[in-house]
Amino acid sequence: MFREPPPTAGLPLSWRDFLPSTASFEAELARFTGNTSTQITCSGTAAITLALATLKKTSTRRNVVIPAYTCPYVPLAVNRCGLNPVLCDTRAGHFDFDFARLKTICDQDTLAVMPTHLGGRVADLQAASDIARQAGAYVVEDAAQALGAMWQGQHVGSVGDVGCYSLGVGKGLTIYGGGAATAGDAKLQELLRITHDEIASLKLVWETRRILELAGYYLLYRPSGLKLAFGIPLRKHLRKNRLIEAAGDDCSPDFPLHRVGSWRKSIGTRALQRLPEFIAQTTIQALRRKSLLEAISGIQVLGDNPGDKGVWPYLLVLMPSEQARDKALATLWPAGFGVGRLFIHALPDYPYLSFAQTDTPNARDFAARTLTISNSPWLGEQDFKRICTVLEHSLA
Ligand SMILES: Cc1ncc(COP(=O)(O)O)c(C=O)c1O
Repeated sequence: MFREPPPTAGLPLSWRDFLPSTASFEAELARFTGNTSTQITCSGTAAITLALATLKKTSTRRNVVIPAYTCPYVPLAVNRCGLNPVLCDTRAGHFDFDFARLKTICDQDTLAVMPTHLGGRVADLQAASDIARQAGAYVVEDAAQALGAMWQGQHVGSVGDVGCYSLGVGKGLTIYGGGAATAGDAKLQELLRITHDEIASLKLVWETRRILELAGYYLLYRPSGLKLAFGIPLRKHLRKNRLIEAAGDDCSPDFPLHRVGSWRKSIGTRALQRLPEFIAQTTIQALRRKSLLEAISGIQVLGDNPGDKGVWPYLLVLMPSEQARDKALATLWPAGFGVGRLFIHALPDYPYLSFAQTDTPNARDFAARTLTISNSPWLGEQDFKRICTVLEHSLA
């Protein structure tokens, strides 16, 4: 097989995106996300770092509560700010907080609570905000995987005190490495800007590298290029049983912090114009495929709460057992069908993170039973049917 879909539905670039644009990326992205301003950063991790470094200036509190199942870069960003990540277990069969636990965890040392919108699915912002406010803590939305999603008619990332997005490779909109932080409050907006100037300078080596990577993305982010760019390295990791690397979870505490140059911003501005249409198209495909998957007895596909409207980079599938999940993945993950895993572990189980706190049974169970199916338009109907057949057999 020479063609291969990507693991997530990313917006492909056009050669026209590389032409100059006079529009401001900050302003266009703010408009798209329902904010009045945005601060563009070099990654989603950098956006979270910026958000927390900014909030740290306003308080003596030092704890940041995060879900026990999220991207390992999140606790690394918390640490990088000299703050303490505190894990809250997730609710059963989900990535969102267990709110009864969250209530007992938040106290007078809690600087911020980070509800997280994973895989385009929308977290319960009301419950998280109520608990955070009661403890006098900020709400920082981690919308790294949910640019364009809506919570109760409001854009995710615009509801909490600060919202963070990723424009990393594989996200809906990418400038290869990029992100954004937003705040509704004018004082916080200004503080974000000042803090960004303090922590991120222009680093020419990084910016040149990202421009070359973005050009490579333009050339290879197509069914005929993804085998080379993604499939071959993935299968090499899988053969060696390097699951953390296969899932891209090998995160470093020395992540870069630098400014994004104007050319990449103008590429983002032009590509952003196509994002609403792309989201609409991929939503139709996702909802149809979600119901096909749910017709298989025992399979659950994560959806949204009433009133929420997420985006669909991939379908997040919860299998009835770890055995069934692993049986399906043994066939599907190496096969080039866009099937894989999200984060391999709950946060306490990454060898390179040192959490003393390990009482997160729901997060561990979620990590053990989930798999992802790409929602790329390049995953054809025949291949999707084959995925369904393998899932059915794995449950037999
Ligand atoms: C939930 C979450 N937060 C933060 C990040 C970090 O974003 P980035 O990879 O752009 O640094 C990611 C990355 O995928 C993520 O999934």
